[in-house]
Amino acid sequence: MKIWKPDSWKKYPVKHIPEYPDKKELEMVLGKIKKFPPLVFAGETRHLKDQLADVVDGKAFLLQGGDCAESFAEFHPDNIRDTFKLMLQMSLVLTYSASLPVVKLGRIAGQFSKPRSSPIEKKDGIELPSYLGDNINGIEFNKRLRIPDAKRLFKAYSQSASTLNLIRAFSHGGFADLKKVHTWNLGFIKKSPEAKKFKELEDKIADALAFMDACGINSDFNRRLKTVNFWTSHEALLLPFEESMTRVDSTTGEYHDTSAHFVWIGDRTRQIDGGHVEFCRGIENPIGIKCGPTLKADDLINLCNKINPKNEKGKVTLISRFGYENVNKHLPKLIRSIKKEGLNVIWSCDPCHGNTIKASTGYKTRPFNSVVKEVKNVFECHQSEGSYAGGLHIEMTGQNVTECTGGAQKISDQDLSHRYHTHCDPRLNANQALELAFLISDEIKKNAKYSKNNIKAAS
Ligand code: PEP
Ligand code: CO
Repeated sequence: MKIWKPDSWKKYPVKHIPEYPDKKELEMVLGKIKKFPPLVFAGETRHLKDQLADVVDGKAFLLQGGDCAESFAEFHPDNIRDTFKLMLQMSLVLTYSASLPVVKLGRIAGQFSKPRSSPIEKKDGIELPSYLGDNINGIEFNKRLRIPDAKRLFKAYSQSASTLNLIRAFSHGGFADLKKVHTWNLGFIKKSPEAKKFKELEDKIADALAFMDACGINSDFNRRLKTVNFWTSHEALLLPFEESMTRVDSTTGEYHDTSAHFVWIGDRTRQIDGGHVEFCRGIENPIGIKCGPTLKADDLINLCNKINPKNEKGKVTLISRFGYENVNKHLPKLIRSIKKEGLNVIWSCDPCHGNTIKASTGYKTRPFNSVVKEVKNVFECHQSEGSYAGGLHIEMTGQNVTECTGGAQKISDQDLSHRYHTHCDPRLNANQALELAFLISDEIKKNAKYSKNNIKAAS
């Protein structure tokens, strides 16, 4: 394989990277970012990879979630806190019922750039370049603001750094202490059926903690009960930025993309000879690959071999996103070829991106039922193929938004306009996300018996 450098992606064709009209300014901005401190450290990234290796072996489950696109407008400590709380709540539901540790990975602290289905947006007969994410251009339908502006990268870096700072404080400063589980509840969901179920879970956990305390095991002596590891991720789409955050780890001499612990390649940029795959093959971070309906089994095998030539466990996460009706048509073939080649991967399910529709009221939405059906179909498919469904990847927010229809709140097409705040795709709100966690925890229990760990134990 050819020698790799952080900028070797430039020799390959790339899609969905904007043309900056002011090249000099772009170079100036990137040059400064190259000297900014890393957002994450190589040791943390290795730690995450170890945890992901446990997911490959069926000893843990991966929960990845957050905004479709973070924005400057929604940047607020309460929003970060509420996404964090919701991830903790969902993890607890999954851990409790499936008896598996949950690896918590936010789509957060850097998830800005978006590939768009059309480069042009049309409104009232006027055509403008599409919105590409707050770190590239503005969402306002305004000619000047739609021009890619490199200086936006400074603001995105700074927002990512302070988001990560708060997450680290929450993770290690006492907020995530299991004793505080009752404080993770989000105010507005207190009256919902999910909140009632969560309260029952809280009571069971309180009993278990009281018992353990009596045995001398409590959070004062055991850090694991008091802290969590919460990792960050985003799509490695805007390669000039990712390149400028890529640094050599002085302890090993290896390259790490220090913009996040985990990055993924989107369904639209996973061409085997494209720049995005070239960039991702050279960094040590764990890598996600989105697997949509157009992905052929042979191409998937080539992608895995290119990204993970040593077949390292925890390096590759395959994130399937077919749409609930298409799971059985596509997924079994991919699972079989991965098995045949003996490749170590995590199979995660993104039940959001294949189920986006236009509501009768014109909003882009996702019916909650379709999301649930995709998860169920994916789990069933893995069960019948004898493989382990190890993860869930969702677009969600801790806020009480009305962006996806259905769920226990029965959000209708007409309700969507009430609180439709997303900067890109519709997100599950906190009620819907928690409801999903309860609904799939039974599936995970069934599926866990296919983990290699249990197969080994049974044989
Ligand atoms: C995303 O996860 O935001 C996304 C664009 O997904 P995909 O690449 O699967 O379309
Ligand atoms: Co999206």
